[in-house]
Amino acid sequence: MQKNYLIIGGSTGIGLSMVQQLTARNHKVFVVSRTKGQLEDHPLITHITADILQDELPRDLLPDTLHGLAYCPGSIVLKPFRSLKPAQFEEDFQINLLGAVKSIQAVLKNLQQAEQSGILLFSTVAVGKGMPFHASIAAAKGAVEGLTRSLAAELAPKVRVNCIAPSLTDTPLAGKLLSTPEKKETAGARFPLKRVGEPTDIAAMGVFLLDDQSSWISGQVISVDGGQSTLSM
Ligand SMILES: NC(=O)c1ccc[n+]([C@@H]2O[C@H](COP(=O)([O-])OP(=O)(O)OC[C@H]3O[C@@H](n4cnc5c(N)ncnc54)[C@H](OP(=O)(O)O)[C@@H]3O)[C@@H](O)[C@H]2O)c1
Repeated sequence: MQKNYLIIGGSTGIGLSMVQQLTARNHKVFVVSRTKGQLEDHPLITHITADILQDELPRDLLPDTLHGLAYCPGSIVLKPFRSLKPAQFEEDFQINLLGAVKSIQAVLKNLQQAEQSGILLFSTVAVGKGMPFHASIAAAKGAVEGLTRSLAAELAPKVRVNCIAPSLTDTPLAGKLLSTPEKKETAGARFPLKRVGEPTDIAAMGVFLLDDQSSWISGQVISVDGGQSTLSM
């Protein structure tokens, strides 16, 4: 059956890879982002230009029934705690948590129109495992994990809500950390699975969590992190 998915932040990185995997399965995908980024023209893709923090989602451009929503915008600002200003915490909270809240509230009715639908959020490995310089992003993503479990309880059984906690993945967001082959190799060597993540690694789990194949999974935060959160080296 052809389904309708909304990917907020599907123009680059993990979101783009999800869009590609969903259209390859013949689903319709509505993508919201500020620019088209690396998104190619495709008969199954509708791009909607919007800044999720500033603009209302144009609901008239979306189908009445949505089978899944993924919220992909996020941030990586790594700084020692002493130089992290409160404004940085607020900024990270806005894009990681409040943008997701706003998106879910805008289309919840559309998601509830489907017999069963899914919401996918993104955390980080740095919530479950303490890492220096991650205070702001870990605090914001910790809130995303709380939202995941709370909404999963509130929206069950019709709407499932899950979250992926990735580690370092080669996307524009992580561009500064992986800007040369040497940086990528050095970073990869720190993982039990000996490489950094590729967008497809995370997107494959994202598509699974939105699909009926995962219809008995809700309220989970799933690590996709090259073994970093649980394996010692
Ligand atoms: N990459 C990593 O190493 C890593 C690690 C841990 C967790 N994560 C999490 O995984 C998720 C996906 O990350 P990613 O690496 O794929 O990021 P990315 O490549 O930067 O993609 C982010 C997407 O969100 C869109 N976006 C950003 N701000 C927006 C706004 N205000 N309004 C509308 N769209 C907006 C971007 O498009 P425009 O710029 O055109 O708007 C883009 O399509 C994030 O939540 C991130 O925190 C990533």
